[in-house]
Amino acid sequence: MVEIKLENITHVYTTEKGLKTVALENVNITFPSGKITGILGPSGCGKTTMLKIIAGLLKPTKGRVYFDNRDVTNLDPQQRNVAMVFQFPVAYDMSIYDNIAFPLKLRNISKDTIHKRVMEIVDILGIDRSILNKNAKGVDPGLRQKIAVARALIREADVLLLDEPLTNLEPLVRIELKTRLKEITKTLKITTIYVTHDQAEVLTLAERIAVMNMGRVIQYDETTNVYENPVHEFVGYFIGNPGMNFVECSLNERKTALDCKGFELSLNRDEVETLVKYGTEFRLGIRPEHIYIDEGKSNKGIKGRVSLIERVGTALLIHAEISKEVSLVVKTYKQLVLQEGSIINLLLPKDKIRIFDRKTGNKILP
Ligand SMILES: Nc1ncnc2c1ncn2[C@@H]1O[C@H](COP(=O)(O)OP(=O)(O)O)[C@@H](O)[C@H]1O
Ligand SMILES: [Mg+2]
Repeated sequence: MVEIKLENITHVYTTEKGLKTVALENVNITFPSGKITGILGPSGCGKTTMLKIIAGLLKPTKGRVYFDNRDVTNLDPQQRNVAMVFQFPVAYDMSIYDNIAFPLKLRNISKDTIHKRVMEIVDILGIDRSILNKNAKGVDPGLRQKIAVARALIREADVLLLDEPLTNLEPLVRIELKTRLKEITKTLKITTIYVTHDQAEVLTLAERIAVMNMGRVIQYDETTNVYENPVHEFVGYFIGNPGMNFVECSLNERKTALDCKGFELSLNRDEVETLVKYGTEFRLGIRPEHIYIDEGKSNKGIKGRVSLIERVGTALLIHAEISKEVSLVVKTYKQLVLQEGSIINLLLPKDKIRIFDRKTGNKILP
């Protein structure tokens, strides 16, 4: 078990023509020992670059990498005892058994021990023992990915790096492998970093996640905190399905409420005191699943006209127009009898409302 620390890591790629891409910018992050941590972010935000720097496949332009308190920045991948599974793993032209045993055969380990280890790993991953003599070339993507994970695990590495291992798999195989990975990381207690652009994966696998955008770590926290308390608008809309609703709003002249062009949010003195430090222009954020639809005939809440009803699995997504400028999406699992054109009352619980700075996107309240 090893704790991984990245200190002021910047990475710049320079192409042959001299074009520069800043893939990582001043990243500081510590991955706890023996746990699984998720890294989530859109394509191109620097996830693979970060993993390669941890694995030693890439030397960072700037900054240091520590395993526990050992500076490993200048060590080769072999010296770091790291196993990495790529998005498109290779299966060597040999039997499935030999593919999995490969890392051990490079060491001086007895045939019996190797056999025992292969059988253990094969069982953990649910690879059928009867197919081990088949050639691994041309196996289906799900099995190829399992072989790659098995080959990574058999080395008993200190660190396991998984780069979008499920992205190219069929839904059923994906669920199976996801379940196995969860069991494996729990029982082996190996420091694992799981990279994906798919939030559903990372939310089930990891307790802590780092959300990245454009080469930076925007938020690094427990999964529930990232969901409930996004520190930046980017996290609010990237996490969640669909992401947060955002409404532009301004502090009113009397400094008592936020004018949201269709509804008002009243503020207490402390809130106003905090907000005025940032000016008058803000953005209100609320998650679609946190808005309630009041079915009664009461006049509580905000009036909206249903413009579209979508069904997503067992949930309903109700799009409601509040005013010309403002629309909100509500996600509910209730079986509401609504039609497009219906007028509804929307309740926005104040404790679920987040206020962001419109200039920077950073969260201000609460
Ligand atoms: N070998 C490379 N040469 C030049 N630019 C690269 C190279 N690899 C990645 N990049 C660029 O660096 C950025 C981060 O890439 P990457 O780490 O692969 O992101 P992710 O894994 O999050 O999709 C992207 O803009 C990508 O185009
Ligand atoms: Mg990648």
